Amino acid sequence: MTKSSVQDPSNAAPLHEQIYARIRASIQQGQLKPGQRVPSLRAFAGELGVARGTVQVAYDRLLGEGYLIAKGPAGTFVSEQLTSSRPRRAAAAPSSSRTPPDQESTELSIETDGGIPAPLQLGLPALDEFPRKLWARLMARQIRSAGSLTKPPPAGFGPLREALAGYLQRSRGIDAQPHQVFVVPAYTASLALIVDALKLAGENAWVEYPSYPPTAQSLKRQNLHVWNVPVDDQGVDVEFGRQHFPKARLAVVTPSHQSPTGVALTLQRRVELLDWAGEQGAWIIEDDYDGEYRYRGHPLPALKSLDTCDRVIYCGTLSKVLYPGLRLSYVVVPQSQVPTMELACRRTVHGGCPELLQAAAAEFIAEGHFARHIKRMRTLYARRRAMLAEALAPYETDGFTVRLQDGGMHLLVDVRDDLDDLAMARRAREAGSPSIR
Ligand SMILES: Cc1ncc(COP(=O)(O)O)c(C=O)c1O
Repeated sequence: MTKSSVQDPSNAAPLHEQIYARIRASIQQGQLKPGQRVPSLRAFAGELGVARGTVQVAYDRLLGEGYLIAKGPAGTFVSEQLTSSRPRRAAAAPSSSRTPPDQESTELSIETDGGIPAPLQLGLPALDEFPRKLWARLMARQIRSAGSLTKPPPAGFGPLREALAGYLQRSRGIDAQPHQVFVVPAYTASLALIVDALKLAGENAWVEYPSYPPTAQSLKRQNLHVWNVPVDDQGVDVEFGRQHFPKARLAVVTPSHQSPTGVALTLQRRVELLDWAGEQGAWIIEDDYDGEYRYRGHPLPALKSLDTCDRVIYCGTLSKVLYPGLRLSYVVVPQSQVPTMELACRRTVHGGCPELLQAAAAEFIAEGHFARHIKRMRTLYARRRAMLAEALAPYETDGFTVRLQDGGMHLLVDVRDDLDDLAMARRAREAGSPSIR
């Protein structure tokens, strides 16, 4: 890589990001091979004519994401785990004893106390910190404009699609044009839209076990056959899925922060999953519901950013970064699927999302409030999480183990087998304490 190949004057990204992106692309495209040594910081910085710290930032990020492995004085190497998982061995006969049980069909609901959400509820952002005055100003400005009172365009309001495409490019590493972004009122509506557009009814689908219950419920309602694929400490077990349900046409995953275990899908598993989808002609739905919240290092790039074969459909939501009552979620599809999605959008029963809200959200993003709000919330959630973990720490001897993952809006507490977590939650509620669900 030459100095001129990195310092691209038309590229507004900081230099360390340009270096990071170039090395990552070289690895993905095979110019840098698994096991190959990368230049030392000093040599590389000298070659590029940049400060050593600039290269260090790029290397640290690649180390954190698993692309590079540091081997002390021997140097830094491209991870050998990145070898493509092809060719595959033949699928083994299913072993029913390893097949996880059916997931409980519980609907998640928000508990309220006199209309105000009770504290410590799964998936609820800090509504007390939402910038209501600013939001009211943006809404007031929009209501004065004539367009906001008409029926919304079925695929979403143009400026919001544009603002989301820009945000996804900057923050999640996703290269998508605005017309590839479709605005929908909810994650489950996104699933229904995708199933309809890609004609997946009647097909088999992998769902993580455990997972967010509405995923399996929604797919079953769309007449898909749902198969549970277990999650371990590297994320969804792709090999298990291959062996037991090789013919699936769909996998729904939460790679950045598995819901609910909080595990980040490792790079090796990401490659395996993409390989599987490529071989089967299957689709992967990436539910990136809270990927913005990571407290150590950078947010992990979306799985979609590695998708060179166009098998990943990306689902995002404004529920976690703004507020869930907004009902604005979005789907990003490969260019090849844009026409079918446009047709499917015209068939939806919900008729789109109110343009007034979409316009306010578009302005919120375009004016930079969104990026500032996420940054502020990241700091706040890190602090609140640490406080909760600290408050729970004295009870560890009573059979609780707090697991603090690198990201997300909730933390996991392992409860000793002989303790009844549901009874504890019930007792806490009866005592007037906030429930932990
Ligand atoms: C795993 C997961 N996916 C998606 C969503 C987003 O749902 P929606 O966009 O309908 O608010 C949530 C919200 O809690 C979630 O926990």
